[in-house]
Amino acid sequence: MHFQVNPSKVSDASVTVPGDKSVSHRALMLGSIATGRTEIKGFLTGEDCLATMAAMQSLGVEIKQPSATEISIQGVGLHGLQAPTADLDLGNSGTAMRLIAGLLAGQKFSSVLTGDESLSGRPMSRIITPLKLMGANIESDCDGTPPLQISGGLQLHGIHYDLPMASAQVKSAVLLAGLYSSGVTSVTEPAMTRDHTERMLGSMGVTVSKSDGKISLQGGQQLQGCPVNVPADLSSASFVMLAALLAEKADVLITNVGVNPTRTGVIEILQGMGGDITLVNMQLLGGEPVADIRVRSSQLSGGDVDPALVSLAIDEFPVLFVAAAAATGKTVFSGIAELRVKESDRIAAMSEGLRNLGIQVDESPDGAIVHGGQFGGGAVQSHGDHRIAMSLAIAGTIASESVLVKDVAAVNTSFPDFCQCMASVGADISPIEAI
Ligand code: S3P
Repeated sequence: MHFQVNPSKVSDASVTVPGDKSVSHRALMLGSIATGRTEIKGFLTGEDCLATMAAMQSLGVEIKQPSATEISIQGVGLHGLQAPTADLDLGNSGTAMRLIAGLLAGQKFSSVLTGDESLSGRPMSRIITPLKLMGANIESDCDGTPPLQISGGLQLHGIHYDLPMASAQVKSAVLLAGLYSSGVTSVTEPAMTRDHTERMLGSMGVTVSKSDGKISLQGGQQLQGCPVNVPADLSSASFVMLAALLAEKADVLITNVGVNPTRTGVIEILQGMGGDITLVNMQLLGGEPVADIRVRSSQLSGGDVDPALVSLAIDEFPVLFVAAAAATGKTVFSGIAELRVKESDRIAAMSEGLRNLGIQVDESPDGAIVHGGQFGGGAVQSHGDHRIAMSLAIAGTIASESVLVKDVAAVNTSFPDFCQCMASVGADISPIEAI
């Protein structure tokens, strides 16, 4: 599948975007190992979360989906997961593979985790190393990539782990394994990352302490199932924000979006570039801050993006590259090497895509300088990466001619109704089967 994007007139609208991917994954996993029922509302029915749901079902958990956005889990308790009868296929999802590896490292049974072509090339040593230090045994391909073979029947013990990279997935894998470990498990991180795991564990009755940047939990704590209200995904909302900012004259409200401060780097960076973005109706919903985001068209200007904000905007750099390309002057991104090990090498993929649309980009190993300009038409490749596909599609809405974004099926992993949602703000993006 490809996107055909025509120059569009994005105008005033009020929209909602689907549920948060990170929170949906965690609700499935934690609800499964809790006691009692967990009812999820606002669930993201994207392929990534459906892969997690199928995996938890294969581990013996009864999970029902009464409607597209509602999930009901009958938790099996901390020690109630059953041996799967087949390999667990986590599709495209790094979050699913890394967090489930943490959950399964301390089980009585063995398991095998597999993924699609993109996931099969992603680094897993980052979780294997700490999990082995805790007493687990996990085999990967020789270059540290999936499939993962996880041995059962090993007693794990708590460790302190000083994360070498800012990664919520690694932090979460260690903390989840910590639930099955003797003693205390703790982590420190080089920069703050999304804390949905810690918050949801807290909502389910687990004591997770945080002091001086050290996050700790005592093993063996039982989780108690609870209702989970998943806010709309700020990462999905950022495509709408971008379209509104770049439009000639638009005033768009995106409702009920998760604005956890460990995720709002994109808002801060865009505001720093001159973006007119305000948060209204702030409230705390089930332990997560939620707000409506109002975005008005703005003339953006380039500058140096603060590397301290990178881990708080980690999934939004494709969006930020497009914003930089539409801004006046040049924008300097640094300290973003982690982007090279996402669903695609996002520095390379965005640099190539923007260049194909006539933008000058100077790439470096851990950053890029994007020179503001005018998007021309043409064909660009998403490299099978959902966020590259959607970001380049938004660039197409203000291009001088039509843009074809190739190979966009992966958009269904995180934002299944992307085209309809974007149509509701006036963006002309259509899925097409053949070129
Ligand atoms: C996620 C953490 C981030 C992010 C990913 C979702 C999570 O990955 O890029 O999309 O839900 O924990 P890293 O931990 O690898 O940075």
